[in-house]
Amino acid sequence: MDDEWICGRLGEDEPWMLGAVNPPVFENSLFTFASAAELGEAIRNEDERYVYWRGTNPTVDLAQRKLAALERAERAKCFASGMGAISATISSLVSAGDHVLVLGAVYGPTTQFLRYLEKFGVTHTHVDDLASGDSAIRETTRLLYFESPSYMRYEVFDIPAVTAWAAERGLVTVMDNTWSTPIFQKPITMGVDLVVTSLSKYVGGHSDLVGGVVAGPSRLIRPLALTEYQLYGAAMSPHDAAKVIKGLRTLPVRMAAHQERGLAVASFLDDHPAVRRVNHPGLPSHPGHALAARQMSGFSSLFSLELDTESREEVGAFIDLLRHFRVGVSWGGFESLVNAPALSVEESVRATMGIPVGLVRLSVGLEPADTLIKDLGLALEGVGRLA
Ligand SMILES: Cc1ncc(COP(=O)(O)O)c(C=O)c1O
Repeated sequence: MDDEWICGRLGEDEPWMLGAVNPPVFENSLFTFASAAELGEAIRNEDERYVYWRGTNPTVDLAQRKLAALERAERAKCFASGMGAISATISSLVSAGDHVLVLGAVYGPTTQFLRYLEKFGVTHTHVDDLASGDSAIRETTRLLYFESPSYMRYEVFDIPAVTAWAAERGLVTVMDNTWSTPIFQKPITMGVDLVVTSLSKYVGGHSDLVGGVVAGPSRLIRPLALTEYQLYGAAMSPHDAAKVIKGLRTLPVRMAAHQERGLAVASFLDDHPAVRRVNHPGLPSHPGHALAARQMSGFSSLFSLELDTESREEVGAFIDLLRHFRVGVSWGGFESLVNAPALSVEESVRATMGIPVGLVRLSVGLEPADTLIKDLGLALEGVGRLA
């Protein structure tokens, strides 16, 4: 089954009522049963039966079936946010006394959540590579968590090598695949146990949705669906699931357009004298490019550039000169966005993450690339004049 079919038609083989092209949105907080015995049986299997919206819903289920198929996973569970999926997934895998290894830079709130878990006796260690992982691993290490490409620096990890290393040491692997989406990278086919994705980015695609998903084998998804999903209450609503289904219908073509525009903009910046470096794994100049090309079938359009400056004011002036990039958090939508950790992240956090002052993150949207390139060129010239 190809990804286009999964995105457009999987789970929709039977015509919907009145020949509707889109599925109905099941706006039900509960479902009823013919007898108390039937209800009891459904509650015992609530990960698969429709009982109450906080556990299951048919519209959410359809989104989950499509996302599981895209990830080549047995099952998927959708949450009210990416962090909902990440926190429930990590919690389902650890107990008091356990230790988590984090490889490379990961999304800030994921690290914050791991710090939060310390009050329940779960500790973690950040390592930059597998060799350091060998020194940091403990008897109590249960889980290896990573992103590839990594957060802000877009470092590429050799996914089959990471999962083989983890499997030899008896660790479960969890990978955040938000950057690539399952259209461009399928971590489960490279040995990752559980894949988490924020649906708020490319999958939703229209900056009108916050959602998340975890995909993997039934043996790991079922307990999580029956426990953390139910108890934390970060359930996806059927309305948001309808937006996920809508986003999936155009995801393959949007990702192709994001790739093309992102690479055009990144190549322009890579050749610009005022730019120290561009961190985009799709560029041949990126140290992880060959590896990325081996394990990914394409590149999204979120990347960073490093201005040749140590001045926060200069970074601010560059951003303020841009006309076609809106200033904001998040990414992966139709609109181009710019953000700079030196201006938006606490100074000590930026420094600990090893992010240079001049690092600027761009999310290239679906506007024409030449308009964005012209905008960036003028802003770079403008900052040059100010300097
Ligand atoms: C890489 C990555 N993972 C996870 C998340 C969290 O997703 P959400 O905002 O949907 O909770 C984000 C959000 O920015 C992210 O950038």
